[in-house]
Amino acid sequence: MDRSKRWQAMDTYSSLTGGRIGVAVIGFGWMGKVHARAYLRLPHHYPDLALRADLIAVADELPGRAEAAADQYGFATATSDWREIAADPRVRAVSITTPNFLHRQIGTAMADAGKHLWIEKPVGLTSDDAMAVAAAAASTGVQSAVGFNYRDPPAVDAARELISGGAIGQVTHARFRFFSDYAAHPQSALTWRFRRDGGGNGVLGDLASHAIDLARFLVGEISSVAADTAVFVPTRAMPTTATTGHMRATGRSGQVENEDYVSCLVRFASGARGVIEACRVAVGEQNSYGFEIHGRSGALWWDFRRMGELLICRGDDYQDVPTRMVRVGPSHGDYASFQPGAATAMSYDDLKVIEASRFFRSIAEGRACGAVLADAVQAAAVLDAISRSAKEGSWAGVA
Ligand SMILES: NC(=O)c1ccc[n+]([C@@H]2O[C@H](COP(=O)([O-])OP(=O)(O)OC[C@H]3O[C@@H](n4cnc5c(N)ncnc54)[C@H](O)[C@@H]3O)[C@@H](O)[C@H]2O)c1
Repeated sequence: MDRSKRWQAMDTYSSLTGGRIGVAVIGFGWMGKVHARAYLRLPHHYPDLALRADLIAVADELPGRAEAAADQYGFATATSDWREIAADPRVRAVSITTPNFLHRQIGTAMADAGKHLWIEKPVGLTSDDAMAVAAAAASTGVQSAVGFNYRDPPAVDAARELISGGAIGQVTHARFRFFSDYAAHPQSALTWRFRRDGGGNGVLGDLASHAIDLARFLVGEISSVAADTAVFVPTRAMPTTATTGHMRATGRSGQVENEDYVSCLVRFASGARGVIEACRVAVGEQNSYGFEIHGRSGALWWDFRRMGELLICRGDDYQDVPTRMVRVGPSHGDYASFQPGAATAMSYDDLKVIEASRFFRSIAEGRACGAVLADAVQAAAVLDAISRSAKEGSWAGVA
């Protein structure tokens, strides 16, 4: 039996026997914790899933962090060396929640070792990195999930259904806007996120990748772009060894190497037009992520901060058509896995539980489910075109 068939056969067997699956988390910062919590909550929200997670191992290079994670979340083993996880036969699926510059090395190693991959966006620093991880996963036949969690809110599912059902007519134009203030403070430290060899293309991979995924999910493939980028906070204080996440620092300053801001005109393959805009230094904007989508006979609006509300305008009147707000409920997307009646607020963590359920379903059923590595490769191709367009000052086609 070839390698890829072997992995699939093993996992199909464990799903048929109501199996448990050993998982590991590599990188225990914000995302590592969210992934670990999602694994633990899966049986509460998806009791019928064929697989349940055993938290086998956690790795983090910061001294004491993996041990603290094991103690708090119940991982059986803790290590500072992710290579031990690649060699551990008990681990069948791995969350890769390290900084972007490690996605390729760890992702390919884990895929080569036959581990299914739940990997955070943007999957590496470049499209080359994303393609390398996708190729490694394809060659051993492991399943993948990518952290494009803004696809998962029930209101976004509802929007997709409305669009594909023709509720707003043919989509003509759309805006996707991802603004944040997480790097607005001039003293927020010059961590890996602001270096090209650590965070790649800055806000492009960090926030615009989410916007691109949403645009593809809701409107379809992007064929060309005309983009502009900027760095608004050109220097920041160097981090100390104790600096993590978005902490501040005040020492010697260093150069920010990647983009704070991107704006981009978009042409979709369908002929629709669009605008994608992302910023990480926008004062007054906290998780200000959302879209507006216009069609020939209606429009939709959504804002992550009011995740359970979808604004819908539709009808045959064209002018002066009222807009109504629908609060999502059990008939929308995965909402019923969380609450029994409409309008109970869901959380960011809930989106990761949905993502985890799709990851496990893909392993149990041996087929892609939700956002996968191919989506990361396509988002990275759009980011490449954005960088090319910004550099050359002209429209750029998406490969
Ligand atoms: N999907 C989303 O909404 C979302 C949100 C935030 C971050 N992310 C992505 O998640 C990833 C991690 O982001 P974060 O905010 O959790 O970062 P973070 O800086 O909070 O955490 C990264 C962790 O990785 C650890 N690490 C670094 N090098 C390591 C190594 N060699 N081996 C093991 N561990 C190592 C660090 O010590 C740290 O604990 C990034 O790729 C980011 O783009 C996704």
